[in-house]
Amino acid sequence: MNDADDLASRRFEYETLGLDVADVAADPVAQWRLWYDEAISAGCTEPNAFVLATIDDQQWPQARYLLVRGADSRGFSFFTNYESAKSQQLAVCGRASMLFTWLQLHRQVRVLGDVQRLPEPESDAYFATRPRGSQIGAWSSPQSQPIPDRGWLEARFQQMAETFGDEAIVRPAFWGGWLLRPRLFEFWQGRPSRLHDRIAYSTDDDGASWQISRLAP
Ligand SMILES: Cc1cc2nc3c(=O)[nH]c(=O)nc-3n(C[C@H](O)[C@H](O)[C@H](O)COP(=O)(O)O)c2cc1C
Repeated sequence: MNDADDLASRRFEYETLGLDVADVAADPVAQWRLWYDEAISAGCTEPNAFVLATIDDQQWPQARYLLVRGADSRGFSFFTNYESAKSQQLAVCGRASMLFTWLQLHRQVRVLGDVQRLPEPESDAYFATRPRGSQIGAWSSPQSQPIPDRGWLEARFQQMAETFGDEAIVRPAFWGGWLLRPRLFEFWQGRPSRLHDRIAYSTDDDGASWQISRLAP
């Protein structure tokens, strides 16, 4: 193993801007939006990617990447198959955690909240904006289920494409959006000597007001 491969000795000195209770936005979604815009300006790859953590029926934590498609006063929205493993976990537990990471800026944002399905008109509207191939893909994939092989999936896609022909493709009932309504945020900014900044937001009144505090790194 050469030095470049040595995980134990790999160090990166974080010299980026700091974060303070006095400077952050009163509204955590506004603060998230600020960091998201800065991630875009910094050229971060897939800046709207996040890790969604759920709990399954055996109490195993399950994590996977998704793409966030909306951020507003209600919270964060994302889209997936409603019959997938993650959707079943979201439906049973009603809670989840999202983790955004923008490594070029040495930043992460952790969000915890309650989840609910997005209203159907919002899922319809988003589905209509998707590329046709993605729409057919949504119809073709029994997400999270075992399938015989890749050929099976491609044949199913082809069959769906022929069935739809040139017609507009409506959203399948088994596919749509989830909304995470945040209860807790933590903004983490890497700093020198591992004295990182951690600013947490919590709410007791469903986001009407937020308490902001600093956590030890
Ligand atoms: C960068 C990235 C973005 C992804 N975005 C989505 C997404 O928005 N929706 C989705 O259903 N799966 C997305 N996936 C795939 C998921 O990680 C996952 O494999 C899939 O949703 C099945 O998860 P589940 O079996 O836990 O339900 C993405 C994967 C990556 C790496």
